[in-house]
Amino acid sequence: MGKGRKKKAFNFQEKDRFMNFQMIEWEKSKGIKFLKKIGIKKNFVLLDFGARIGHYSIPAAFIVGKKGKIYALDKNESALDELKEKSEKLGLKNIEIVKTDGNLQTNFPDNYFDAVLLYDILHFLSKNQRKILFTEIFRILKKNGLVSVYPKHINSDYPMRELENLTIKDIIREIEKFGLDFSKKICDTISHDDSLNYGCVINFKKRSENE
Ligand SMILES: C[S@@+](CC[C@H](N)C(=O)[O-])C[C@H]1O[C@@H](n2cnc3c(N)ncnc32)[C@H](O)[C@@H]1O
Repeated sequence: MGKGRKKKAFNFQEKDRFMNFQMIEWEKSKGIKFLKKIGIKKNFVLLDFGARIGHYSIPAAFIVGKKGKIYALDKNESALDELKEKSEKLGLKNIEIVKTDGNLQTNFPDNYFDAVLLYDILHFLSKNQRKILFTEIFRILKKNGLVSVYPKHINSDYPMRELENLTIKDIIREIEKFGLDFSKKICDTISHDDSLNYGCVINFKKRSENE
């Protein structure tokens, strides 16, 4: 070894610890502030479609409280197991895990949810699959209910898979065809995978029959 200082080896454990700390802070604090900003309220019944390990389900559960409920739906069983373990450690009793086989049609009743989150999931779905999903979301949402969409992986934000050639305007136009009216776009530092990044979500409200 020469005279110079020994270069510190990149420590993956340290990086993991930091990421972990950052996401715990997100789930217990920053994520709560963000979800309140997009319109999630106490007592809401909310569906987190494609919840994975719950980076949005957990802060949402803190907001909706004991009388509210979060349905965390995913087809990935091990991710849902991790979410279940985390929610038990946090003493959250208002998260119901819904494991599916990937079917986009659900068994929930009509007009059941105050809000649905579609965060970082649309890029997995073809146009026809998205049509099935938006039709289903319209059915299970209450009148004036909220759908919040995080269209990660569109052309301006790490383009990938089914959304790589679409703009945010294309997504808005597509969703509005299903009786869901665009209401606002909210940008902030938000959770993506297991870290934070700058991103924008778009909110829609279910149109009532006479509007
Ligand atoms: C990139 S993760 C996003 C997780 C979470 N929404 C977030 O933003 O942190 C996408 C999740 O959607 C799930 N997913 C994809 N297609 C699905 C389908 N057809 N039905 C249920 N879950 C699905 C995947 O298993 C994965 O856990």
